[in-house]
Amino acid sequence: GEDRAAGGVADVVAGLVKRWHALILANADDLARLISREQGKPLAEARGEVGYGASYVEWFAEEAVRTYGDMIPEPVRGKKMMVVKEPVGVVAAITPWNFPLAMIARKIAPALAAGCTVVAKPAEDTPLTALALVRLAEEAGIPPGVLNIVTASRVRTPEVVGAWLADARVRKITFTGSTAVGKSLARDSAATLKKLSLELGGNAPFIVFDDADLDAAVDGLMVSKFRNGGQTCVSPNRVYVQEAVYDDFARRLAARVAALKVAPATDPQAQIGPMINARALAKIALHVEDALAKGATLLAGGKALPEIGPTCYAPTLLGRATGAMLIAHEETFGPVAGLFAFKDEADVVALANDTPFGLAAYFYARDIARVWRVADQLETGIVGINEGALAAEMAPFGGVKESGYGREGSRYGLDDYMHTKYLCMGGLGT
Ligand code: SIN
Repeated sequence: GEDRAAGGVADVVAGLVKRWHALILANADDLARLISREQGKPLAEARGEVGYGASYVEWFAEEAVRTYGDMIPEPVRGKKMMVVKEPVGVVAAITPWNFPLAMIARKIAPALAAGCTVVAKPAEDTPLTALALVRLAEEAGIPPGVLNIVTASRVRTPEVVGAWLADARVRKITFTGSTAVGKSLARDSAATLKKLSLELGGNAPFIVFDDADLDAAVDGLMVSKFRNGGQTCVSPNRVYVQEAVYDDFARRLAARVAALKVAPATDPQAQIGPMINARALAKIALHVEDALAKGATLLAGGKALPEIGPTCYAPTLLGRATGAMLIAHEETFGPVAGLFAFKDEADVVALANDTPFGLAAYFYARDIARVWRVADQLETGIVGINEGALAAEMAPFGGVKESGYGREGSRYGLDDYMHTKYLCMGGLGT
């Protein structure tokens, strides 16, 4: 019935973001090639990332028309009490190199859906995908000035981000990256009390109990650990395996890890591409050398592969890892898994939680009482139960403890870009 030609703001935003989504999909092959070239993930994975990032854009285009408020039952006559949602204001987004499209898409899309404008800085290693994405947003009709990308080297980044931190017009910072940088953003945004979403480092435990389906656990570990060459915040870092199934699990996993094909990202057979840069490679090598020096056994890999590429590293499995090793405490961010043996449930839950981080945890078990007990006790924002692939646009992604706060994706993700405003109207008689 109603003539919608003029369009409400939410309708207009939803329409523009939907067009942006369609253009991302229409250009998926080019975007995938760009991601793969600048970031190094195999082309098939880069195609997956385009679909993954686009799914957040579609989700938030649809959520733009659902930023509902509330009516509150008034305690006295003559009043009406209401809650409305408002855009938080200008959003500054600082994004990482590991998912050059998906991470910026899942910050920009909810910001637009909430009615915010955006200034964004992609990582030094991967600026091109972000620029291509914003070009498509322009083609979709998103007006100039709504989305603004500033590229900067590592050296110039403090200058760019410093300007945003000091500017009271920037009302929100959304950041994915290291805990150290996240903490400095929290400190430095205090002067203007900006709203923050921080998706920071992890140190994910992956627990295999003796009642687990071992085939499923091996599959789940392969997916979660070796996706993007282990360069994800939710990548399992500590693999705890109950003594009774340790040898069997280690044997099955070693065969799968050794069979992974490392190749340049352009090779259609590649399963693991090059690491992002020489610094990343050096950290991976240090973690492996440290573990071997402290008594770990080498079950697969264990060396750089310069003959394939200057930052290539063999997918590596270390056995009999211990809490004294770097891999127990620091995020390796590479294709290295360390197996830790454990005896009982209470011990492993304590070990899993014995970290300042709390992004993701995974466990495999079949006993239903154990499943609920462990899921309740794990101190993380995300728990994979008999499942290695966790992220999806309709689910809230984010951590607790020093892995940060705020959520990306899902209906919870939009709240991070909005204020709650309370309106109290009086004088309405009795
Ligand atoms: C990340 O590494 O920060 C995100 C990983 C994901 O979206 O699954």
